[in-house]
Amino acid sequence: MTRDPRRVLVTGAAGRLGRATLGLLAGHGIPATALDLHDPGDLPADRVVAGGAGDARAVREAVRGADTVIHCAAIPAPSLGTPEEVFVGNVRATFVVLEEAARAGVRRAAIASSFSVLGLPWAPRLLRPAYLPVDEALPLQVADPYALSKQADEATAAMMARRYDMAVVALRFPLLGGPDDQFPKRAAAYAADPGAGVRELWSHLDTRDAARANLLAVTRPVTGYHVLGLAAATTLAPYPTARLLDLYLPGVVRRATMPDRVTPIDVGAAERLLGFRAEHAHPVTPVDDLPDPDVAVS
Ligand SMILES: NC(=O)c1ccc[n+]([C@@H]2O[C@H](COP(=O)([O-])OP(=O)(O)OC[C@H]3O[C@@H](n4cnc5c(N)ncnc54)[C@H](O)[C@@H]3O)[C@@H](O)[C@H]2O)c1
Repeated sequence: MTRDPRRVLVTGAAGRLGRATLGLLAGHGIPATALDLHDPGDLPADRVVAGGAGDARAVREAVRGADTVIHCAAIPAPSLGTPEEVFVGNVRATFVVLEEAARAGVRRAAIASSFSVLGLPWAPRLLRPAYLPVDEALPLQVADPYALSKQADEATAAMMARRYDMAVVALRFPLLGGPDDQFPKRAAAYAADPGAGVRELWSHLDTRDAARANLLAVTRPVTGYHVLGLAAATTLAPYPTARLLDLYLPGVVRRATMPDRVTPIDVGAAERLLGFRAEHAHPVTPVDDLPDPDVAVS
């Protein structure tokens, strides 16, 4: 049983994920309002509000008529702003969007969290997860302002769920992209130097799947707050996952076998709660032999 949103507010609507989400909503005939800093003029939404997601007045205007929010607006990497801009801008936006939405009567929301919340991708030194595959209970090792913003965003989402009896799903997206965007370059880089992918655990998710997860997060029967890890079924590296882990994360406890090129992210919770399973995985020709580790390990 799924619900039909009356209208969905999509924040960060002009970005990679926001656009894909708007496109999916339009394909399902679900009315959408787009909020972004600037209106690029070509968004598939019948209402577009130009303004900041951290600006309560703009959000109040944007959320009018909506009963559902998909919050994607954020600076999506620590290098894309000053530490203050990344942390303060992101957490302010998430707080304001959820607070104003709840006050306007919205009781269903999804927010874009990130695999980066674990701390691994952007830490000043290589960190080791407590165990693999990564799941939602893995202890966080936040060491950069972007990861901290996502940790705070998740805490904000949990608070809003309790404060307003709202269903909020925080989706921990890994590297997003598609066949013409990000993935071929990353796959080639990981093939040449597998160590280049260890911080991301060589994971990825097609933006079309990410948009579908957004939609399921606000339409499936869900109550309360949930955080979910997501990924394509296989990695962007051509090598067997177990061999990569032997080489780059030796000694990290493995709680499950990870055969072939399976992603070291446990995606079971998203499947159980939302019925979500990634439909796309970037095609990579498998290779059994890793490059010489003396050359590969950085
Ligand atoms: N791209 C990835 O690989 C990736 C991975 C994990 C999580 N995420 C998260 O997914 C979400 C979407 O990422 P994306 O790849 O689409 O990024 P993007 O940079 O393509 O799009 C983000 C959009 O948000 C807008 N925006 C930023 N701050 C805003 C604000 N304060 N008010 C209004 N609009 C604002 C930007 O103008 C932009 O259009 C982000 O929350 C990001 O942290 C992205």
